[in-house]
Amino acid sequence: MKKELILTVNGQPYEVYVNPKTLLVEVLRDVLGFTGTKRGCETGSCGACTVNLNGMAVKSCSILALQADGCEVLTIEGLANGAELHPLQKAFLDHGAFQCGFCTAGMLMSANGLFTENPSPSVEEIKESIDGNICRCTGYNSIIRALTAVAKGEYTEEQ
Ligand code: FES
Ligand code: FES
Repeated sequence: MKKELILTVNGQPYEVYVNPKTLLVEVLRDVLGFTGTKRGCETGSCGACTVNLNGMAVKSCSILALQADGCEVLTIEGLANGAELHPLQKAFLDHGAFQCGFCTAGMLMSANGLFTENPSPSVEEIKESIDGNICRCTGYNSIIRALTAVAKGEYTEEQ
């Protein structure tokens, strides 16, 4: 039997009815249309499905949708401020921190979880924050360079 789920996604309230076994990634992509959140391994290993739940990075294939009841979810679609890219997105662009882009939404949302908690993390903390995000293309160095530049204050909301 379906249950009511009330959550906020990218600042907008939603009320949906879901099966108790439905995963958060399924609601985000298949019900609400936030397809920027990618489905990769669906076993919690690749990080492609990472979103922020009440500010924390979580793998949306690894939690039930109903666990997000009453929560604020931020997906990649909500990271930019309208047409103004988020500092993390600007840094990724400037440092060539993606190639095919499949991992990018998850990488950015993992990083955003870190920067929300700690605006100037160390390189070690940066590496730890994306430890659960797999990229088949970049070799990670460009991603770490981009995130390090943000940590050093080289990118701000106004830029
Ligand atoms: S799809 Fe969720 S961790 Fe891979
Ligand atoms: S840019 Fe292709 S998987 Fe990361």
